Amino acid sequence: MRLLVTGGAGFIGSAFVRMALRGVDDVQLCNLDALTYAGNLENLHPVAAGTRYRFERADIADAAAVDRVFASFQPDAVVHFAAESHVDRSILSPEPVVRTNLNGTFTLLEAARRYKTQRFVHVSTDEVYGSIDEPHEADEGYPLKASSPYSASKAGSDLLALSYYATYKMNVSVTRASNNYGPYQFPEKLIPLMIANALEGKSLPVYGDGMQIRDWLYVEDHCRAIRAVLEKGRAGEVYNIGGSRALPNIEVVKRILAATGRPESLIRYVTDRPGHDRRYALTSEKIGRETGWKPEVEFEEGLEETVRWYRDNADWIANVRSGAYREFYEKNYAGR
Ligand code: NAD
Ligand code: TYD
Repeated sequence: MRLLVTGGAGFIGSAFVRMALRGVDDVQLCNLDALTYAGNLENLHPVAAGTRYRFERADIADAAAVDRVFASFQPDAVVHFAAESHVDRSILSPEPVVRTNLNGTFTLLEAARRYKTQRFVHVSTDEVYGSIDEPHEADEGYPLKASSPYSASKAGSDLLALSYYATYKMNVSVTRASNNYGPYQFPEKLIPLMIANALEGKSLPVYGDGMQIRDWLYVEDHCRAIRAVLEKGRAGEVYNIGGSRALPNIEVVKRILAATGRPESLIRYVTDRPGHDRRYALTSEKIGRETGWKPEVEFEEGLEETVRWYRDNADWIANVRSGAYREFYEKNYAGR
C-alpha cells in the first residue's frame, strides 16, 4: 500500500508513522508536513532512514504543492493528521487554524478526488461535540457544538470530508478521538506542559477551578484505532475513539506532581480559558463493535511511561522550547 500521511512530523502523526513502519506490512509511506512550530523531524529519527519512508515538506493549503505530491507519490490511501491542533493558540490567533484545518482539508480532499485515491481517513476530535453534561456521552450522531476556533474548524472539516462521501462517493471515514498523551507531545498541551514545568520546578498553571474533565487516550492506542478504521472502517462513517480514563484536570496535575516527586505547592490557579468546555465524554462502542479495537494502555501505566520519556529526553524538550515557544508562553500565561 502507498500511504500518504499528513502531519506525520507532529505528535500523533509521528507515532502513527513509527507504528506503520515498524510493522511487517508492505507499506510505502510518504509524510507530507509543513514543519510548523509543532512539526519536528526528530520525532521520526527511529524510522526516517528506512527505504519505505519519504518526506515531502509542503503546506496542505497550497493546492499546487499538494498536487505535486499526489502526482509523484500516487497514494492508495491518505491518513490526514495535519492541523493547527491547540485550542489556546486558536484563541490567540484563529487565522492559521481556519487556513490549515478548513482550507487544507479541502485541498487534500480535492487532490484525493482528482487522483481517485481509494481511501481517506480524516483524523478529528471529540471536541466537535462541545461540552457534555453528566451523565451523557456523545455517540457519533450527537449534535456538533464547537466552542473554540479550533473545534469549530475541526467540525467544519469533518462535515466537508463527509460531504465527499455523500456527493462524490469517495471512500472517506472520520475519526473523533479524545485527549491524547504520550511521548513526543509538544509541551503546550496539558500533560506535557505540566510534566516539563514540574521537572524544572516551575509553577503549574491550572485554568479556572481545575475541575474540567477530559478522557485520556494513550497515543499508541489512538494510532491502533486509526489503523483499524483505515483497514475496516466503512465509507461515510464517523468513529469515536475514547480513552481509558476520564479525570478532572486537577487530578491529572496532582498525579504528575507525585510522579515527578514535586510538591503540590507548585500548582497555580490562573484565569480560565474563554469558552472553556467543562466536560468531554464519548462512547467508543461503534469502533469496538465494527473493528474489535479497544484501548489497551491504562492511564497509570501510560502516564508513568510518559513521565519517564520526558525525564530521559531533556534535550528534545529544550530543542522544541525555542524562542517562538517562549513568546507563546509569555502571551498565553502572562495576563492570567
Ligand atoms: P500536532 O500539533 O502535534 O502536529 C500537527 C502537525 O501538522 C505538525 O507536524 C505540523 O507541522 C503539521 N502541520 C500544521 N499545519 C500544516 C500545514 N498547513 N500543512 C502541512 N502540515 C501542517 O498535532 P497532534 O496533536 O499530533 O494532532 C494531530 C491530529 O489529531 C490533528 O488533526 C488533531 O486535530 C487531531 N487530534 C488531536 C488530539 C490531541 O489530543 N492532540 C486529540 C484528538 C484529535
Ligand atoms: P489541552 O491539553 O489544551 O487540550 P484541550 O483543550 O484540547 O482539551 O487542555 C486540556 C485541559 O487542560 C483543558 O481543560 C485545559 C486545561 N489546561 C490547563 O488547565 N492549563 C494549561 O496550561 C493547559 C495548556 C490546559
